[in-house]
Amino acid sequence: MPIWASINFQDSASPGMEQLIFFHDFTMIILTLITVMVGLNMLFICGYKLTNRVLLQEQSIEVMWTVLPVVILLSIALPSLKALYLLDDPFNPNLTVKAVGHQWYWSYEYSDFPNIEFDSYMLPEESSNFMARLLETDNSLVLPSLSQIRVIVTGSDVIHSWAVPSLGVKADAVPGRLNQVMMFISRCGVFYGQCSEICGANHSFMPIKVEVVPMPYFINWALVSN
Ligand code: CUA
Repeated sequence: MPIWASINFQDSASPGMEQLIFFHDFTMIILTLITVMVGLNMLFICGYKLTNRVLLQEQSIEVMWTVLPVVILLSIALPSLKALYLLDDPFNPNLTVKAVGHQWYWSYEYSDFPNIEFDSYMLPEESSNFMARLLETDNSLVLPSLSQIRVIVTGSDVIHSWAVPSLGVKADAVPGRLNQVMMFISRCGVFYGQCSEICGANHSFMPIKVEVVPMPYFINWALVSN
């Protein structure tokens, strides 16, 4: 759940998001080092004219500033590709759900159960079980923890985007096209997300609420709802 005035990511609830947070922190270190080094160098050049000779006419320094960026870029590209392919890994899912974006609400279908499908509208602030402004829904997506879940995402009218930050998941919901995201949710809880593609007047008012429960509870819920 987002926290007011927070500058970090939301607490991660999936191995994929952990990878992404690690990659963000790692890249941030490199970025900070480069900024500091280039900044100091510029200050130095402002003060001393003789740097010109060392920095511009020496053969070895030229080799260095060609090779060093290549090494730095490679060290960013490799973990990036690793995270990308891990997130995209098409393992065998235990459960498949379909999220359809509409103007302006989400609807969910559980393809493994014949009769579970429902719409999910935002709850207004006045409603009784209100928790978070612009994030609460009347029906939330219920999912089991510790299992491989596939979410099929599509749109029915315009492009929406199904995104839950704590789960490290974001997929465009494009009409006439199925996108899929894989997720493994490592703990129980309630996770919030929002439509992340400008889709019209009520773009801000079609939140995503995921309730994650242990598998036996989920099966129970599915049997009751079916
Ligand atoms: Cu749907 Cu933005």
